[in-house]
Formats: sequence, structure tokens, C-alpha cells
Amino acid sequence: MVYHAASDRYDAIPYRRSGRSGLLLPRISLGLWNNFGDDRELSVQRDIVLRAFDRGVTHIDLANNYGPPPGSAEQNFGKILASDLRPYRDELIISSKAGFDMWAGPYGEWGSRKYLLASLDQSLSRMGLDYVDIFYSHRFDPDTPLEETMGALAHAVQSGKALYVGISNYDEEQTRRAYAILKDMGVTLLIHQPRYNLFDRRPEAGLFDALVELGVGGIVYSPLAQGLATDRYLNGIPNDSRVRTANWIDENRINDDYLAHARALNDIAQGRGQTLAQMALTWTMRHPGVTSALIGASSVAQLDDSLKAAHAEPLSDEELEAIEPHAIDQLVGLWS
Ligand SMILES: NC(=O)c1ccc[n+]([C@@H]2O[C@H](COP(=O)([O-])OP(=O)(O)OC[C@H]3O[C@@H](n4cnc5c(N)ncnc54)[C@H](OP(=O)(O)O)[C@@H]3O)[C@@H](O)[C@H]2O)c1
Repeated sequence: MVYHAASDRYDAIPYRRSGRSGLLLPRISLGLWNNFGDDRELSVQRDIVLRAFDRGVTHIDLANNYGPPPGSAEQNFGKILASDLRPYRDELIISSKAGFDMWAGPYGEWGSRKYLLASLDQSLSRMGLDYVDIFYSHRFDPDTPLEETMGALAHAVQSGKALYVGISNYDEEQTRRAYAILKDMGVTLLIHQPRYNLFDRRPEAGLFDALVELGVGGIVYSPLAQGLATDRYLNGIPNDSRVRTANWIDENRINDDYLAHARALNDIAQGRGQTLAQMALTWTMRHPGVTSALIGASSVAQLDDSLKAAHAEPLSDEELEAIEPHAIDQLVGLWS
């Protein structure tokens, strides 16, 4: 069936400027790291992506290695673009990244110019695109001069293969250096993609302040802590959950300590008429350093549930105080 985007899609979600750029991003964006590989039905993937766009989610985030297998999420998204979203290309912000292990040999990961530019070409080819809107260095490479990595990003812009560039998983000092090097090359750092959620609060220690000061946007990934900042595990571990179906979080995370805090947070969320997922997003988006919360979803129902957070009342001081004892950085040693 021919897809026609919902005519009221731009009333469905607020947008915020990415730093001091001209680019507006939806307050909630959709990432295809999990649930969009060859292990998932393409029809479900299509339903989620199209539903997101119908709800005004103009930004879809990818990376070279998303799958499984690596590359398949870009390929599958390319199929959805070709079948449904091609007429809407100019309404979409599509990002990709390179940095993690993608192909064999010394040129298949990290931050060399050789790897980044070859990977960008591969991503464009998998998605069937002439350009991505945002191209990221996915992680800081301690062994490659940052000038080389940033030079590759600048080249991606100058060659027309990316409109903007970003960095991900860089700490505050690395971010300041990357920003300055790009600026010298005449390219503005559009955005940073760090992990931030109720159980990983590291960006509060200085990174967010740096982003606000530099005028760089912040799009925070895993704002639902991969499902742990939701009610997904409060009554046992579902067989279709990420804990069971992926390698990223194992069942040891679902221990008594975690459950006590998650249940307390769930009670606070219910007290304000939200699901825990919605409150987790409302909490994440409260920070001035956060332009957009970058969620994942394994179903349209989850997506719909999460997107309601875009219109939620801000948390009151009393609610923030009640949340604070349970918003524990590195809870259950979740993050390295
Ligand atoms: N730059 C980086 O290094 C990096 C790293 C990781 C992620 N990312 C980006 O961030 C995106 C999001 O990451 P993420 O998938 O970890 O995000 P997340 O939003 O923290 O977790 C998504 C998972 O939470 C569960 N969920 C989602 N909505 C729910 C709801 N309303 N109620 C209950 N459970 C819900 C689902 O788990 P089930 O699958 O169990 O249903 C879903 O797969 C990625 O796709 C990627 O684009 C970037």
C-alpha cells in the first residue's frame, strides 16, 4: 500500500534547535541500533519507522555497525526509504557513524581518515543515499591525531556527503578539542551523542555545560537505559526483551537492588500519571544540555508510549527530589 505521511505530523511533537545551529530536531528521535537487524521482521521495522515519522519524528539515527549483522540496519532502513520515505527525504534528518569494529584489518575501526571516509561511502551505498544529514565519529581514538579524525569529518561536509558532523562518546576535554579543531577547519560541530539516563549521569559532570557553552547540541542515547528505566522488567524478564534477545545487558542486571529502585521510580511515575518510560524521558529532557532524547523501540506500542513524554508536564522540584535517591549513576554497575 502506498504510504502517505500523516498530515498533522508537525503538530505531534515539539522541536528544539541543535546548539547554535540552524537545525531543529524533534525532542524525541528514533535510533535503529537494536530491533532493525535481519533478526527482525521488516514489516515491523517499517511500521515503527513510519509511525515515528507520522508523529513528527524527523530524525532517524543509524551507524555502520547496527544490526545484526553489522550493516543490516542501514540496509533495512534503505529498503523503507526506497519503498515509502523517498518522497519525504527533505523532511528527514538521517545520521550515521563510524568508529567501532566494522570490517577486518587495520582500516575497519577507530578514527583514521581511511576508515571514516570508506565507511561513510559504504553507509551511503547501504541506505541508497547521496548524503547523510549528520556523520559522526562514533568514539574517540586515542591513537589517531584528533586533527586527522576531525579532518575526515570536515572532508565529509566539504565533499557534500554529510551536511553536518557530530561526535559520540567523547569526554568533555576531547569534545572541546574536537570543537576547536573543526572550527579552525571552518566546520561547526553540530552535535554530541553521549549516553544519559536515570542510571548513567556522567554527562552532568561537565560535558553538558561544555555543550551549552560551545553552542553544540546534545542528543542523548539509551535514555531508557535499554529498557531498564521502564516497567519492562518489573514482573520478571520477558522472553522478547533485550535482556533475552541481545548481548548488551544480561540478567544479572535485574537484581533486587535494581528492582527496588525501579519500583520506587515506577510509583513516582504512576503518581504523576505517566509510565516509567515516559517519566524517564521527561527527566532526561529536563536538562538544558539535551536537545533530543534518542530512543529505541521494539514495537509501535512502545514508541507511542514513549512519544507521549514529548508533551508531558515538566517535573516539579518535589518530584525531582523524590526521584533523586533512585537516579543512581552506574546503578548495578551497568556501564563501563
Ligand atoms: N552513540 C552510541 O555509541 C550509541 C550507543 C547506543 C545507542 N545509540 C543510539 O541510541 C538509540 C537508542 O538506544 P537504546 O535502544 O539503547 O535506547 P533506549 O530507549 O534506552 O532503550 C530501548 C529499549 O527499551 C525498551 N522500551 C522502549 N520503549 C519502551 C516503553 N515505552 N516501555 C517499555 N520498554 C520500552 C525496548 O526494549 P525491548 O527491546 O526489550 O522491548 C527498547 O528496545 C540507538 O538505536 C542508537 O541510535 C548510540
